[in-house]
Amino acid sequence: MAKTKTIFFCQNCGAQYAKWQGQCTSCKEWNTIAEEVIEKAAKNDWKSTSESSKNKRVAKPLKITEIRSSEEKRYITDDSELNRVLGGGIVPGSLTLLGGEPGIGKSTLLLQISLKLPYKTLYVSGEESQQQIKMRAERIPTQTDNCLILTETKTQNIFRQIEATNPDIVIIDSIQTLHSDYIESSAGSISQIKECTTELIKFAKETDTPVILIGHITKDGHIAGPKILEHMVDTVLQFEGDRNHVYRILRALKNRFGSTAELGIYEMLNNGLREVNNPSEILISKKEEELSGNAIATTIEGMRPLLIETQALVSTAVYGTPQRSATGYNLKRLHMLLAVLEKRAGFRLGAKDVFLNITGGISVDDPAIDLAVVAAILSSNEDIPIPKDYCFAAEVGLSGEIRPVTKADQRVQEAEKLGFSTIFLSKYNKITLKNATIQIQLIAKIEDVVEHLFG
Ligand code: TYD
Ligand code: MG
Repeated sequence: MAKTKTIFFCQNCGAQYAKWQGQCTSCKEWNTIAEEVIEKAAKNDWKSTSESSKNKRVAKPLKITEIRSSEEKRYITDDSELNRVLGGGIVPGSLTLLGGEPGIGKSTLLLQISLKLPYKTLYVSGEESQQQIKMRAERIPTQTDNCLILTETKTQNIFRQIEATNPDIVIIDSIQTLHSDYIESSAGSISQIKECTTELIKFAKETDTPVILIGHITKDGHIAGPKILEHMVDTVLQFEGDRNHVYRILRALKNRFGSTAELGIYEMLNNGLREVNNPSEILISKKEEELSGNAIATTIEGMRPLLIETQALVSTAVYGTPQRSATGYNLKRLHMLLAVLEKRAGFRLGAKDVFLNITGGISVDDPAIDLAVVAAILSSNEDIPIPKDYCFAAEVGLSGEIRPVTKADQRVQEAEKLGFSTIFLSKYNKITLKNATIQIQLIAKIEDVVEHLFG
């Protein structure tokens, strides 16, 4: 009988230890180290054992000019948002991890994509039965017949089916349900996740077949299992959004084959996820009357301009300590802007409650949203609405100065396209755009904004 071997793994960062200890020396977390039983030596081989030895390729050093470029070949999916986030389609031999909270729509997204792919796809599910997948698939219109559905959790069996069917693309729903024969511990444990991913990487690299993995996310937003999973794969995508909203965002957190600044937006409908190709139009509510506390920001996510609505509510604090809350915006940054308004523009907001909301349940990192946030707060404070055809794009500095933003031309163009009459930018932004019909207000200080908006 094989000797039982156990290893201690930190459940947070995946560090290995020979014996138990209270604190992980690598990530400094307490009580995260757990024992996992490994009965047989890990082999990481995806092929049936006898065959693997004769198929072993020995890598040879090559000149950079001799290396065949795989850049030109990509599997283009039917989904233009996914293609863009991936940097132009799925790269052969790549391993992609799609993370997201339970119920956000990861399985729906990948099933929908595989059902429409013009390539032979193997969709392996360890979470749902074939009937359940069929029920889900019935909700999705237009399908091709290239997708095979397999319900299996053992990697060795999956590889056997792959060898039998020879798919172009493999999708695994979810890495946490897989288990390998080489490791004794239960599915979802660190050692299993590591082993299964290593086997899949070997398979992907040796056969040039792209593999997409679904990974669950823990409550605090990390991909469950070791952080090393993120280091092992080529691309990490995150599917996020508020479950109560219909919009979902697909982001690349890491991408070896493209930019991580790109963003895909989807809408969850009764018949699957719909790509949102013109996000700006949806994120702005088309109200007839003008309300105080609303301002439109012209942001850029990746290469794409995105107009979003910021809403602020400023009211006299009911309790002793004023409340400040922000949804979709960094609370620390809100505190900073409030301090700037107090100190530099003389607004007494210290005793007021301030609530800030970015509509659509979207969170944005672009600093160009600052000026719209300031405008929304001032508008609510003064109870004077901002004309609904005004929009803003500038960062606000600590001394109340209005700072320039990147890609100003693109923002102006988008605002113009959507019918805005005026855009507020920093004086230091160079606009090279000729014959723009939209009025461009260049401002230098917060006081200038106040003067323009509330006279
Ligand atoms: P699912 O893909 O199962 O989430 P995950 O794999 O990330 O856990 O998504 C499930 C949710 O999506 C569920 O609450 C129902 C909803 N949904 C729709 O609104 N429309 C649809 O067409 C489908 C298939 C699901
Ligand atoms: Mg799922």
